[in-house]
Formats: sequence, structure tokens, C-alpha cells
Amino acid sequence: MRPLSFLATLLPGLLLASEPASELIASGLHDPMEISVAADGDVYVIEREGRLLRVRPSTGGVFEIGNLPVTALREADSKTSWAREDGLLGLALDPAFTKNRRLYLYYSDPVKLLNRLSRFTLKDGKLDLASELSLLEIPTDRRDRVCHHGGSIAFGPDGLLYLSTGDNTNPFESGGYAPIDDREGRDHTNAMRSAGNTNDLRGKVLRIRPTEKGYEIPAGNLFPKGTAKTRPEIYVMGCRNPFRISIDPKKNVLYWGEVGPDASDANDHGPRGHDEVNQARKAGNFGWPFVIGDNKPYAIVDFATGKAGVMTDPAAPKNPSTHNTGLVDLPPANKAFIWYPYAASEEFPVLGSGGRNAMAGPVFYYDSSRKWNLLDKSDDHTLLTYDWMRSTIWKAKLGDNEELVKLEPLMTGLRHPMDLESDKVGNVWLLEYGSEWYFNKDGAIRRLRAASAAKPPTVTIAAGGTEGSYQATSEAEIKWWITEGASERLVGSGNKITLPKSDAMELRAVATDKSGQIAVARVSLKNEVQQPSLVLSLAGNPASVGFGESIAFEVKSVTPPEAATVSVRARYIPPTGHDAGGPRFTDDQEKFITSKQCLACHQVDKASVGPKYLDVAMRYRDRPDAVAVLTAKLKSGGSGVWGQVPMPPQAAVNPAEAETLIKAILGLGEGISETRGQLNGNLKLPPAPSAVQAGGAWEISVEAPGHLPARMRLQTK
Ligand code: HEC
Repeated sequence: MRPLSFLATLLPGLLLASEPASELIASGLHDPMEISVAADGDVYVIEREGRLLRVRPSTGGVFEIGNLPVTALREADSKTSWAREDGLLGLALDPAFTKNRRLYLYYSDPVKLLNRLSRFTLKDGKLDLASELSLLEIPTDRRDRVCHHGGSIAFGPDGLLYLSTGDNTNPFESGGYAPIDDREGRDHTNAMRSAGNTNDLRGKVLRIRPTEKGYEIPAGNLFPKGTAKTRPEIYVMGCRNPFRISIDPKKNVLYWGEVGPDASDANDHGPRGHDEVNQARKAGNFGWPFVIGDNKPYAIVDFATGKAGVMTDPAAPKNPSTHNTGLVDLPPANKAFIWYPYAASEEFPVLGSGGRNAMAGPVFYYDSSRKWNLLDKSDDHTLLTYDWMRSTIWKAKLGDNEELVKLEPLMTGLRHPMDLESDKVGNVWLLEYGSEWYFNKDGAIRRLRAASAAKPPTVTIAAGGTEGSYQATSEAEIKWWITEGASERLVGSGNKITLPKSDAMELRAVATDKSGQIAVARVSLKNEVQQPSLVLSLAGNPASVGFGESIAFEVKSVTPPEAATVSVRARYIPPTGHDAGGPRFTDDQEKFITSKQCLACHQVDKASVGPKYLDVAMRYRDRPDAVAVLTAKLKSGGSGVWGQVPMPPQAAVNPAEAETLIKAILGLGEGISETRGQLNGNLKLPPAPSAVQAGGAWEISVEAPGHLPARMRLQTK
């Protein structure tokens, strides 16, 4: 018996066992933004481009019940539109939703330059656009990389509605410090006009009491009604991009995550950037754009000369802007509750390092009378915090006076957590945004279960032997449901089903265990529209071609694509090892690049927020200075090479890591060549890679949007 090795095998198991399990309730969501849980157990969710969905957790049914016209970034204009953070942003159900079917949405008007908070009513289960009652309209700028709209809606236990709004400012022209450019014509890079302005609703958490016809101002907001140069709706001012807010249901304390600026080091303009988790026990100023973190001050910079002027005094901050329509003397700034930079945090090392996007809430309370408790009794009164980039949830144990007692990780490896909500019976719901920044089709809703709870069941589904028959495998009892429009129907139980004739869109096998936990497997029954195929032919129909040779090609289709959109590619496939089916990172490279959060904005072979890595490899392949140029770019960040959208400085990457990352990216171009924009032309094959063995092959392929690609294989000479 060797006690040490025994411990080593036991410990990792123990550590893993303490992570909560989750049931995957809904999947296939498109950039989902916020959820709200009804008393009857249904979960409502909004998607960035305007859809409202109802999810029925007992069957995994997902039903579209509304589609609100909004301004949002769409795939077709993704490189030119500045509506990058606009859309359908916030959702909360009315506290009396069971009776009145009312809900609140915050969205970007489809025509006018404003974001709006409105109340809607569901009619026959669907969003009734005619029922809209507009509560707040907040004019917005939408040009030249302006972003930050916040947009989270939540109700306090006293029925007050809270709405977060962002500073609506371009953060990319102030070196990652405070965007306070006060020159004429530069107001879109000046957060003193919004977040720091007591007379503007942007960069705030607003608090109102909805009424039958509109809203009232509750007592206790930051500025008493009637105070000159202020707005009475403001509860919290001085926010940059307060994303996902939550109110402690017992203590009525407001929490929110605040996404902070990019600077990786301090200089005479101010501190390095920090994200924040904030706590407001009462109305207050949280400092942006004059302080950050634990009240680290920024200097008032003259952007004409770049000279740093007077430092902000957090106890008596001033807004000196000529674009300020509010008070000059601001309420004293409040420190953040938790704050962290890109680098490892000295104060909160458990938060790790790297990209950041802080979010906060809900506050967990233990209740032995409930069926479900996510955490233990000792965790009673614990704030959950999470980070979209770091894909982790933490437990922040609170003391009797709401102070932070302990901060520990709870769950890691999530797919960009976007919202977290608890409901009346003790379920905790996690909304995952999806793998990428935009145009996800893999957003999901999970129900989190205590680490000590029985493991949820599993289920898989497969086509049966005959047309329309399916079979499912699970250790739990199976029921079969079909989705028809915005409703669903039970069509059978047990392991097998033969579908009745219907125009159902989806078939679900739902496995439910004795404790009521479920697993869902889905099959789409939609007849997907067939895209026209591309046909690729090569001059002379060669059976083999050599490295560096040119081949003439022609691309045809029954509905020919526009030449400009066509790309023809040759890829060398070595004879040994399995072919991954395209340019790919090795597993180790993939793990490393995932850990550095690059894949939030980049894909190997698909455009995302940033360029395809394959395109980067192609563009720099013949440049001897490629590694130096690109590692420098990782450090500095910046825009203009691939478009106007900037890459933030990748501050969590040290020089050695940067070189590893860049070499992996450049390596994607090995053995690949491409030509674009031609239906007829010549493709020059790549030079031989360093290690060639006899017997490899070429894959020659053509792609164009809206068409099925064509591929062929040739031998190498
Ligand atoms: C927040 C989004 C985002 C993240 C995260 C991100 N990038 Fe980028 N990246 C971009 C954008 C946008 C560009 C295009 C910049 C331009 O046009 O100059 C880019 C460009 C690049 C380029 C090409 C630079 C050039 O000048 O041609 C490389 C290489 C790159 N990124 C690597 C990385 C690596 C490695 C990581 C992770 C450490 C990473 N990126 C993380 C958004 C991002």
C-alpha cells in the first residue's frame, strides 16, 4: 500500500465530485441574452436578434412566442454595422405574471436611435405587440465602435423594477483608460456625457415602480425628484457596462457585474483596467469614468495634448466636461465589492487571470423545506458571481453585514455563462450564450443541481429501422413529445416510437427519473431547404498534381454564386495519421488557445468577431517578420488590418505564450493554398511542407455562401 499514490488518485475525483451537475433543458438557442422564470416553472428567454421563447422544463419544449423588431447586428452586415451590442437586451416577468401575463423588455428601436423599456402582455400565450406600453426611451449613439448598453432588468422583493444601462461610448481611443475626450465632435468617446452625467440615463442602474399607466419614482433614489440637473430614475450612477443585475430577495441589496476598460498597466492617465462586481445597499455613485476598482482614480486628460491633468478625488469627484448637462459636483464614489484586472488579482487570486466580463447574482439562501438546494446549509446567504470570458461561477459567501467572507470557485468550463437565476422552488437556472461572440446556434439553458444530488439521467436517440421510427436509450422512463408551432403533444412512451403523420418540427425523447430530473434528446423533423451544389472541374482532369504546380479550374452551379464570394482551396493531406478534415489545431494547441480565451472571437475556418485564423496564416505566410508583427499585435491590440473592430490587448498572454500561439496559427497554413473571387482561374498549389512522405493526397475544394461545397481528391506527384 502506497498512501501517497492512493491519495493522488482519490483527490481529483473528490474535487470533481464537488462541482454541481446540470440538466440540459433547452439547446439550439441563438445568442440568448436573459432569462426569467415564471411561478408555474416555465422559463422565458430572449435572443439578441429579437425572438422571445418559452421553455417548458418538464418536457424540454422550446416555443417561439414572439419576434420583436429591433436594431441588431445581423450576419449579412456583420462587418459594417455598428449595432454590435444593440438588440433585444433585457427581460423580466412582472411579479404578478401568473395573473396579468405582463413582461418587460429592453430593446433597440428598429428605426429610431434609442433604446426602450416597454411593458408587453401575452395574449393566448404569445407576445402581443399591440399591447406595448413604453416606459422609458433612452437616446443612444450608434457610430464608430460605440458600444455598452447594459440592458438587464430585475425586480426587487418590494416590486421595484431595476434596469441597467451602459455608457454608450467608444472605449478604443483612450488607450484603455477613461474615455473622457472632451473635444468638439468627440462626444462619442466621452463617457462624461453619459455615465458621469447626473442628467442622463446612460451608464446607470435605474429604479422605478411600474404602475398601470407608466411608472412612479420610489423614495430613496440618488437624487430627490425635482433636483435641478438630475434624473430621478437614477439609483446608481457611474457605470460602464453593467451587465446582468440581481437583487438579494431578502436584504433588497443590488448586485451587478461591471465590464471594465482594457489598459493592462497603470500610467499617468490612470490605473490598469479592472472588472467589478458591485454591491449597492443604497443609492450611490460608483465612479465611472472617474475612478475604477477600489476607487483608483483617473486623471482628467486633455486629449488635444495627451497631458494628464488633475487626479479625481474619489471622496469629491467632479465632472468638468463641457458636454455635461448635469451637476459638476458628484456624490462620493463607492468602491467595488470585488475587482480584478487581466493579470492575476492580488486581492482575489481565486479569480485567475485573462479575458474578463463580470456578472453577478443571484444570492443563494438555504431552505430545508425546499426540494432543491444548490448549495449547502453553510452556504446560506451566498452571492453567485460569474464571468462570461472566464466561463466560471464563483461563490461569494456574505456576512451578516453583507461583507465578503470567502470567495471560491463553484463551476468551470461553461460555454459563456450569460445569466443565472434562481426560482421559488430552489432551482438555479444557467443561461449559456454559446461558443462564439455572435451568431451562435448553440446557446443553452441548464438547471444546476447540488453536487450531492443524484446524477441526472442520460438519453440518446437514433433512427429506427423503418421510415418515421425512432428508438431511445435511457436508464429512466421515456416519453415522446413533438413540437407543433408554439405547442407540443405527447405521442408515446417507452423505448420506441413510430411517428404519426404530422407537420411537427421536432421530436423529443424525454427521460425522467424518480426525483423529477430530466434529460432530453432532440431530432429536427424540418425538411431543410436544399442549397444548390457547386461543381468543380479541373482542366485536363488530372489524376495527380505536384507541389507548387498551377491547375486551371472552373466552378459551375445551376444558380451560380457571385464570383466575389467563391473560394477555391487546395490542402495537402499527409499519408500517415488521420485527416482531421480541414486545417485544425492539434489537441494540445486547441487546449492552450482555449485556455487563453481566443476562441471567443476567432474560429479556425469561420469568420467571427476577429478574422479566421486560416486567413491570418495565409496573409502572413510569406512574411519573415510574421511572428514578430503578430506577437506585438497581441500585446498592443488594435484594429484596421481586418476591419474596424479592434482586438483588445491580450494582456494575460506572456511573450513566450504569444509566440506559441502565433506559431500555432501560422502553422494552419502549412500545405494549404487558396484563391478567391474567381469562377474561372488558376490555383497554385502550396510548396512542399518540411516533411513529405510518398503517397499523400490533395483535397481540392470550392465554397461559396448559400451553396453546398464541392470536394475532390487527387494524388500527389
Ligand atoms: C474580443 C475579441 C478578440 C479576442 C478575445 C481575441 N482577438 Fe484576435 N482579433 C480580434 C479582432 C477584431 C482582430 C482584427 C484586428 C484588426 O483588424 O487589426 C483580431 C486579429 C488577430 C490576429 C491578426 C492580427 C493582424 O494584425 O493581422 C491574430 C494573430 C489574433 N487576432 C490572434 C489572437 C489570439 C492568439 C488571441 C488570444 C490570445 C486573440 N486573438 C483574442 C478580436 C479578438
